[in-house]
Amino acid sequence: MVRVAVIAGDGIGPEVVGAGMRVLEAAKEADSSVELDFTDFPWGCEYYLEHGRMMPEDGLETLKGFDAIYLGAVGWPTVPDHVSLWGLLLPIRRGFDQYVNLRPARLLRGVRSPLSDPGTLDITVVRENTEGEYSDAGGRMYRGTPHEMAVQESIFTRRGVERVVRYAYELAGERRGLLVGATKSNGISITMPFFDEIFREVGDEFPDVEASLMHADALAAQIVLRPQSFDVIVGSNLLGDLLSEITAAVSGSIGIAPSANLDPDRRFPSLFEPIHGSAPDIAGQGVANPSGAIWAAALLLEHVGHAEAGRRILDALETTISDGTRTRDLGGAATTDEMTDAVIRELLGGDPGGP
Ligand code: IPM
Ligand code: MN
Repeated sequence: MVRVAVIAGDGIGPEVVGAGMRVLEAAKEADSSVELDFTDFPWGCEYYLEHGRMMPEDGLETLKGFDAIYLGAVGWPTVPDHVSLWGLLLPIRRGFDQYVNLRPARLLRGVRSPLSDPGTLDITVVRENTEGEYSDAGGRMYRGTPHEMAVQESIFTRRGVERVVRYAYELAGERRGLLVGATKSNGISITMPFFDEIFREVGDEFPDVEASLMHADALAAQIVLRPQSFDVIVGSNLLGDLLSEITAAVSGSIGIAPSANLDPDRRFPSLFEPIHGSAPDIAGQGVANPSGAIWAAALLLEHVGHAEAGRRILDALETTISDGTRTRDLGGAATTDEMTDAVIRELLGGDPGGP
């Protein structure tokens, strides 16, 4: 039995996670070898307003016993962003050493890219997820005076860069064999050359992968201009964050892209979530696109040993979209529930595939 902790979180989180869980239930029905057991945790901004914390003090201890974590979204206008995120999502990523944030972006059949000629678009961003620019090393001084200042140091460790870069080379080797390292060594003259050096060193172990480094600003432009030419992109925490939002956007809608926060060494549970946020503007209306959460559920299944069941979910999602059942952000009129119903129908009724 695979034990999944569910943190639906804030805003549209509960709506899309509800959708994803219904799809996972259907996946169980379609394949009896898929055994999942869900436990809900009501953590998030509402919990914060009541208890003064985003999750209980022993939250990580509680989550440790699970095989995976399924998360909706974190953040609501009543709680400052840095408080909500550093109280829930970011401590999980770091506390569970989820050092790979895997962000696949693919132009699914039937989805229109905002680009006029996107060609085949299938890019996976491997984002470092535990150090880099997201650091607590720093502070503020002279508050309220004209000399007020703030410092936040980026942390790049050899171990931290090496392990995420190695993961990206391995992934590229299993895919089309192309890897781009995102750098900014022309401006950030200490940490980025360090990253580049390790990127090249690790590359010696992977002679079959065609690897190159690109400055992240130019890379951002190239993702828009010729997305077909990219396969795997690896970058630091912040650069990977920015670039994965671009790859998600050019593949149609940020409502579609998922994110897997992985501890590849499997000492801790990994966390699966859509990359979109809590979307306060549409929360509670039942119109959120469930695709990102459904795709994240597929990645979760893959991680816990049910790759085939995960692939079937993604196929069902793709068929649903290309058959025309889509939410507003994809140019359709379907509600979250209608789109989810269609995916489930496809999953249970469609060709089960396999041998
Ligand atoms: C993401 C989000 C988070 C991040 C925010 C909400 C802290 O943008 O998962 O990409 O920057 O990691
Ligand atoms: Mn982001």
